[in-house]
Amino acid sequence: MDRLSGRTAIVTGGAKGIGRHYSLALAAEGAEVVIVDVADGKSLAQELEAKYGGNASMSVTCDVSDEFAVQRLVGQVIERFGKIDVLVNNAALYAPLPWHMVTEIDVDTWDKVMAVNLRGPFLMVKHAAPHMIARRYGKIINIGSGTAFRGIPRFLHYVTSKGGIMAFTRALSRELGQHGMGGSVNT
Ligand SMILES: NC(=O)c1ccc[n+]([C@@H]2O[C@H](COP(=O)([O-])OP(=O)(O)OC[C@H]3O[C@@H](n4cnc5c(N)ncnc54)[C@H](O)[C@@H]3O)[C@@H](O)[C@H]2O)c1
Repeated sequence: MDRLSGRTAIVTGGAKGIGRHYSLALAAEGAEVVIVDVADGKSLAQELEAKYGGNASMSVTCDVSDEFAVQRLVGQVIERFGKIDVLVNNAALYAPLPWHMVTEIDVDTWDKVMAVNLRGPFLMVKHAAPHMIARRYGKIINIGSGTAFRGIPRFLHYVTSKGGIMAFTRALSRELGQHGMGGSVNT
């Protein structure tokens, strides 16, 4: 299938875990995939290039909670591919997080979860959306979690951040929809 031929897609947290599968699936549909991660995505990018050709992929090491790093990343993508068609906001602190009661969560961990899981998607949209608005085309997919609906205990920071992603996506779609853009939240 080639449903995304000629499209440029960014996948945050795209080097490992579920994000790796998003990267593989987007490339299989013909998209140019930008793997953005704090982890090294080079070997995955090489795998995609070997399979789909030299322009199939790019890997950038970037912390999505750092505005300067996000700005630089978006600049690199525009320089290489000239546009951003799809943004998958997948990066999050999830697997490495310890499970604790609310009374045991320290403030630094809480702030870090909010920085990566909420500030990250905000910064990615803040800097990618102008390029989408200019072309009146863009798809933004924010990865949520069913934990926000179920209220899973001992994971309050993560569950709260994913509840924020739902609200973020709802308001964002109303704000950006008028510019010809689409968005969704996947749980
Ligand atoms: N695993 C599940 O059961 C599940 C269920 C529902 C939703 N989700 C969501 O799916 C997404 C992926 O989950 P996963 O299980 O693959 O998680 P994971 O923790 O295994 O992977 C997260 C990825 O994000 C990257 N990352 C972490 N911090 C980053 C940062 N500051 N900047 C850039 N990249 C960063 C990691 O290196 C990793 O590649 C997350 O948004 C998670 O909340 C997961």
